[in-house]
Amino acid sequence: MEYRRLGRTGLKVSTICLGTMQFGWSSGEDVAHRVMSRAVELGCNFIDTADVYSRWIEGNPGGVSETIIGNWLQKTSARREDLIIATKVRGAMSDDVNDRGLSRHHIMNAVENSLRRLQTDYIDLYQTHAFEAEAPQEETLRALDDLVHQGKVRYVGVSNYPAWRLVEALWISDVRNLVRYESLQPHYNLVHRAEFERELQPLCLEYGIGVIPYSPLGGGFLTGKYRRDAPLPHSDRAAGIQRRYMNEQGFAAVDKLEEIGSAHGATIAQTAIAWVLANPAVDSAIIGANSVEQLEDTLKGAEISLTAEEKAALDEVTAWQERR
Ligand SMILES: NC(=O)c1ccc[n+]([C@@H]2O[C@H](COP(=O)([O-])OP(=O)(O)OC[C@H]3O[C@@H](n4cnc5c(N)ncnc54)[C@H](OP(=O)(O)O)[C@@H]3O)[C@@H](O)[C@H]2O)c1
Repeated sequence: MEYRRLGRTGLKVSTICLGTMQFGWSSGEDVAHRVMSRAVELGCNFIDTADVYSRWIEGNPGGVSETIIGNWLQKTSARREDLIIATKVRGAMSDDVNDRGLSRHHIMNAVENSLRRLQTDYIDLYQTHAFEAEAPQEETLRALDDLVHQGKVRYVGVSNYPAWRLVEALWISDVRNLVRYESLQPHYNLVHRAEFERELQPLCLEYGIGVIPYSPLGGGFLTGKYRRDAPLPHSDRAAGIQRRYMNEQGFAAVDKLEEIGSAHGATIAQTAIAWVLANPAVDSAIIGANSVEQLEDTLKGAEISLTAEEKAALDEVTAWQERR
């Protein structure tokens, strides 16, 4: 496993980060624990979760993924200090109007709840899950700055921010001498590129912001199990994937991944991971796995180096740049 610095920080993270949104949703606690143990055995030191996972599923109260991780931390032989645990705040955790968002009030309550569920004293990377306009950014950053000084949080990052809001946050941190966001977690894969590449990618390169993309396999689309004429695979996410990615450009991307991957003896999923990691702005790809087999398969993608020509050929299939 390769380790890269998270942006300009001194922190080193594995190029594969284990995402845990599925835990307690499409994979139960036993499987989740096996997947986490195997990921660590294979060299992953980086785990991503969120307090809200997966409250949008009927009957799920939220906090379930963090609880499953906390239970695993108690029984794993891995040392807490060797792991980089990232979680997020912002999602609604109840019907209470203040039990959500990025206010000081909610952040201070939410961090205590995440620490309790994770059964740990500190969070390595605490991320705001998405931008929200209702809390002033300075209020959010002051609360996060306090948490860093209290030792409850070590680094802070964002997910799903427009570029100008991230720059605004960097500016506030600078002029007010507050902790700054060191990482961005964007939605990014071969069939979902413009949102990150248009403005966020140059911004992250310019300011040394670490990039840890989520859904590098397009939620499973870029594995080859979604095909033009094949029935939809059994997946809790199949309907969403069909709506979002199953179009001619998406299928052409899968075909090209298969063609280029075959030269490396690699699967479609592995080649999709190699493409994400070939981007110089990216530090670690946050994958999801419903089984140890999926994890082991996907992880091999981190060992594949695409040539510049192969990367360019893949880029070409999903090129999005506005033509002038
Ligand atoms: N910040 C945010 O807003 C945000 C949003 C989404 C996700 N995330 C984070 O990113 C993580 C990963 O997201 P994601 O689950 O969308 O990532 P992904 O890696 O693009 O998709 C993972 C899904 O693909 C399928 N899969 C994985 N490996 C496979 C393999 N080798 N062969 C065949 N199928 C395979 C599985 O779904 P099936 O078995 O169902 O096919 C798995 O759940 C999440 O756990 C979470 O930590 C963050």
